[in-house]
Formats: sequence, C-alpha cells, structure tokens
Amino acid sequence: MSIPTRVKLVDVGPRDGLQNEKQPVPAAVKIELVHRLQDAGLTEIEVTSFVSPKWVPQMADNTEVMAGIQRQAGVRYSVLTPNLQGFEAALKSKPDEIVVFGAASEAFSQKNINCSIAESIERFAPVVQAARAAGIYVRGAMSCTVGCPYEGEIAPARVSYLAGLMKGIGVQHVGVADTIGVGTPLKVQRAMEATLKHYDINDVSGHFHDTYGQALANTLISLQMGVWQFDASVAGLGGCPYAKGATGNVATEDVVYLLHGMGIETGIDLDKLIDAGKFISDFLQRKSGSRAATALLNKRSN
Ligand code: HMG
Ligand code: MG
Repeated sequence: MSIPTRVKLVDVGPRDGLQNEKQPVPAAVKIELVHRLQDAGLTEIEVTSFVSPKWVPQMADNTEVMAGIQRQAGVRYSVLTPNLQGFEAALKSKPDEIVVFGAASEAFSQKNINCSIAESIERFAPVVQAARAAGIYVRGAMSCTVGCPYEGEIAPARVSYLAGLMKGIGVQHVGVADTIGVGTPLKVQRAMEATLKHYDINDVSGHFHDTYGQALANTLISLQMGVWQFDASVAGLGGCPYAKGATGNVATEDVVYLLHGMGIETGIDLDKLIDAGKFISDFLQRKSGSRAATALLNKRSN
C-alpha cells in the first residue's frame, strides 16, 4: 500500500478540544474558532455534541453554536449524538454528519455513555436509521481501541467486534480512536487491521490523542497502511471527561506540518491554522499544545 497523496483532516477542536474545559467558553468564541478553522481551509469540522448538559456542561450551548456559524460551501459540520434524544435536538441544527460513539471496552462504555456496548448499539441503531433516512452521513467513533483507562490493554478482536456491530447497524465510516493516547504504532496497526475486516480503507479514520507523545508515529503508520482521513484538534486541545489523565488530540498544526513535509496535500493553510490555534490558546490563557505552531510562532517573532 502506498502512502496517500492527499489527506482529509477533521478538526475536532471545537468539540473534543473544548468539551473538557472547566472554564466557560462562550458560544461566540466557539463560533469564531469554527470560522477561523474554515478560513484556514479545514473542510470538516466537528462542532459540538448533543449530549446531556449534566454530563458535559461545556457543550450545553450546542444549538446556539450551530446557529451562529456562517456556513461555507464545501465545508461539512458534524456533531455527536449518543441517542435519539440527542439526534432529534441535533436535527434542527442541520448537521452534515452525525457521530455515534461507542467503545471497544465495556468499562469505558459504561463510564462514558452509561450503558454496555450491546445496549449502545441498540441505542445507536434507530439514530443511524433516522439520520440516513434524512440524508445525513453517519460516522461512528470507536473509543479505547488500543487501551482503556479502566481495563488496560484492549485486544484487536474487541475492536473487530465493535466495528462489525457498527457496520451491522449501517454506520458508514468509523474512527479508530486511541482515547488515552497509550498506543504505539504496531498496536495501532493491529486496531486498524481489525477495523479493516469490516470497513473499506476509504471509510476508516484515525483519532489519536497524544498523551504519551505517540500520535504522530501512529498517524504515520496509519498513512503507510493507506489510511487518508484523520481527526486532529487545533492547538492539541482537549481530552475526554471520562478518560482521566488523557490529554488532547494530536495538534492539527503538527499533523499538517508532517503531511506537508511529506508532500501530502491537505488544502490547509498552516499559517492561518496557527493563527486559529493562537486565538483559542490566548483565550484559554494556555500555551499551544502544538510543537510545530510553537516553533513557527517563535520564528515569526524573531
Ligand atoms: P443517561 O443518564 O443514561 O440517559 O445518559 P437517560 O436516557 O437515562 O436520561 C437521563 C437524563 O439525561 C434525562 O434528563 C434526559 O433528558 C437527559 P432528566 O430527566 O434527568 O432531566 N438526556 C439528554 N439530555 C440532552 N441530550 C441528550 C440526552 N440524553 C439523555 N442526548 C447519555 C446517557 C449518553 C446522554 C449521557 O451518558 C451523556 O451525555 N454522556 C456524555 C458522553 C460524552 O459526551 N462523552 C464525551 C464525548 S465521547 C469522546 O470524547 C470520545 C471520542 O473523542 C473518541 C475518543 O477519543 O475515544 C469521540
Ligand atoms: Mg477523542
């Protein structure tokens, strides 16, 4: 398998990046972030989630954020919907894509969405059916495909099991997530291979958190397998509230630097992306989690 010549990145910063922030982030800031991301050339943005505001208060402004975005032609906006209640609320915001999210680990499924893997599939099935009937594309996120904060290492067979269940209910694309960033390349490769038993290479993406600094290596091995779609988070924001100690996704800026350095097209303007990352990092009064953005910003100020 040769390395792809073009890669599609989904910036999940506004959702995965901000969902765990303790300080309130006003809807206007989230909207501005989405605008900056699309101005930088991102064509896929995961904007928010329609989950319980008691569980994830930071995403309680989901409808307001979706309504405030000035949509750009050619850009797709996705939202997380864990059940029919979330889907029905999301529908009014006209997302291009919805995301159901399950886990390869039983314990994580319970902590994150308060049900077993089997129950989660039962909940997702009518969501998938309703979304597809409404012409909305359905993606599935598969958490803990290499490691779980509660169960430790996760066997590829469990990833294959979950991918098969997702396929069975009509989920069109799945993201192989390393939720707590413990994966190393060969483990990620095995999780990808387990997924590819059920999904075509064109319907699979990587979603790597960077807790242990392995996300770029995991991205590279996935590219070598022919995977050409990845989630990343501007400035490396984020982490899941139900995965203690897990830090953000790999920074979009770092992935873009890697890809452009390898001659792989993304359609993204790295300078503008760095500005978007600076905007949100300044708001949060935090240093960017992106090494490439930090280096290039230092260079700019010299
Ligand atoms: P539950 O408590 O089991 O649901 O929560 P329930 O059906 O029993 O309902 C209980 C209450 O929640 C009711 O309200 C419902 O109305 C409300 P009450 O009567 O008590 O006032 N409710 C909702 N409210 C708004 N939107 C909804 C909704 N559903 C029920 N959709 C539920 C189940 C899934 C909703 C809950 O566990 C939840 O919201 N969990 C949050 C999960 C989450 O957002 N996790 C982070 C995102 S996943 C992630 O980050 C991983 C990913 O990045 C990939 C990776 O890295 O691994 C995608
Ligand atoms: Mg995540």
